[in-house]
Formats: sequence, C-alpha cells, structure tokens
Amino acid sequence: MIIAVDGPVAAGKGTLARRLAAALDYAYLDTGSIYRAVAAKILAAGGDAENPETATAAARALEPIDLERDDLRLETVSQAASKVAAIPSVRAALLDFQRDFADRPPGRRNGAVLDGRDIGTVVCPEANVKFFLTASVEARAARRHKELIERGEESIYARVLQDLRERDARDSGRATAPLRAAEDAVRLDTSSMDADQAFAVAMAEIARRRD
Ligand code: CDP
Repeated sequence: MIIAVDGPVAAGKGTLARRLAAALDYAYLDTGSIYRAVAAKILAAGGDAENPETATAAARALEPIDLERDDLRLETVSQAASKVAAIPSVRAALLDFQRDFADRPPGRRNGAVLDGRDIGTVVCPEANVKFFLTASVEARAARRHKELIERGEESIYARVLQDLRERDARDSGRATAPLRAAEDAVRLDTSSMDADQAFAVAMAEIARRRD
C-alpha cells in the first residue's frame, strides 16, 4: 500500500503523512528532507545550489545519514532546496531511492507514506491513495511562522510570506515534476481544518478505498 501526500509549502503534508504512517504502522518518508539535505551539504561546503554540476554531484553522493542533519529546516536551506529541486539531473539521481522506499518499505512494513511535491505524479503514479493538500497562502505562512517561533528561531511574518510565495512559484513553475495535483488525487483544503480534522478525513478516505 502506497499513500502519496503532495502539496505546496506548509500545507500540512508532513503532519498528516506522519500521523497516517503511525496509525497504519507504515514507513514514512519526508521527500523534502532529501532535497533539503542536498542543499544543506552544498551550502555547508560553500557551493552554489543553482549550479547543475555541483548539485547533481551532491545528489549522487547523498547518503541516508545526511537526512538526519540538524540544519535541514533552516529557511536558507528551504530556499536552496527548491533551487536544487528544479534541476532535472538532481531529481533523476534521487528517484530510485524514493521508489525503493515505497516498493520495499524499511522494517518490512506493509505500506509506505511519502510526502512531497511529485509523489502522486512522478515518483509513485501507481500509489493506492493520493492526497493533495492545499490551504490559503496566508494560512500556510501563519503556520510556518508559528513553527519557526516555536523552534526558537527568529521569524518575521511578512518575510515568511514572501519566501513561501517565491518557493511555491519556483516549485510550480519548473519544467520537471512541477508541483501539481495528480488527476486521481483527493484534494483537501486545510485552511480551516486543524491537524485532527485533516487526519480524520484522510483516514476515512483510506478506509473507503480499502473496502
Ligand atoms: O515542508 P515544506 O513544505 O516547507 O517543504 P519540503 O516538503 O521540506 O520541501 C522542500 C523543497 O524541496 C520544496 O520547496 C521543493 O522544491 C522540494 N521538493 C521537491 O521538489 N519534490 C519533493 N517531492 C519534495 C520536495
């Protein structure tokens, strides 16, 4: 069983995907952390995230331990991640790892939940259930701002809103695997839903598909 959860920045993908995986005892992969890890390694080495050769070499050299770095959620890394993610050879280099995870979930689990931008369209077009989460840009910026403050980081709402718009534009506008809903995705607008409500709606949908 493969469950795909896609959507724009801070739409609630990670929270929903993690909770679904825990409830169903499936493996969970945050595919954003893969692009973030590539970007973080380039930035740490003083490299240019927009250089295709640099970024492709970093993607090919990526190891699972890199996904544990503690700088992945920094806003500088978020922006650089969406730059490396626009480079086709970077995406190609990371595809097998994601597909293997979905097809043979670690821990011999019976299923996998993957969240990202292109899981339902490119990585796992055969996924059994696909969700596409959306929310207004203001709701998403407010969530990300709150998250940053709670983590003890400095955050200015207007800046978060601007960064989010830039990243959404880059993710939606790129030629390879742009952010878009798969035709068979279930769309969930989480603007006025809390995490519990989104989880309940998604679980009901999964149960309906299994019957
Ligand atoms: O958590 P948030 O929504 O801020 O972002 P993320 O899911 O961690 O993804 C970080 C960046 O990686 C995104 O802005 C995308 O550019 C890229 N990404 C992608 O291109 N494809 C994916 N499947 C996942 C992430």
